[in-house]
Amino acid sequence: MTLNTYRLTYFNEFGEECTADFRNREYHNLMELLFDKYIEEWGDCKGRAWCGTCHIRIVEGTVTEKMGIDEKLTLSKIEGCSLVSRLACQIPVTPELNGIVFKIEGDR
Ligand code: FES
Repeated sequence: MTLNTYRLTYFNEFGEECTADFRNREYHNLMELLFDKYIEEWGDCKGRAWCGTCHIRIVEGTVTEKMGIDEKLTLSKIEGCSLVSRLACQIPVTPELNGIVFKIEGDR
């Protein structure tokens, strides 16, 4: 990790703990960051908050970005959705994500 580089932690579909490094606004959203660098075949609707494949569950830390109506609607249709569920495609890549921990839940 270098200056102005941040790191987050996620548990992949196999339950393995992984880290991802990023810079402020390097990607439009969290789904794009992970899709580009770390995860194959994720984000079927390309970040429109329609498909729910980028469903994550926050384990540690907080995302302050407010949920839009499309995100709420899509999450409401997902079985097992909880109060800490979010769509990664709706979360901006900012230093706020430094140190956050989440679990990838979306079906692929
Ligand atoms: S990429 Fe489809 S809901 Fe996030």
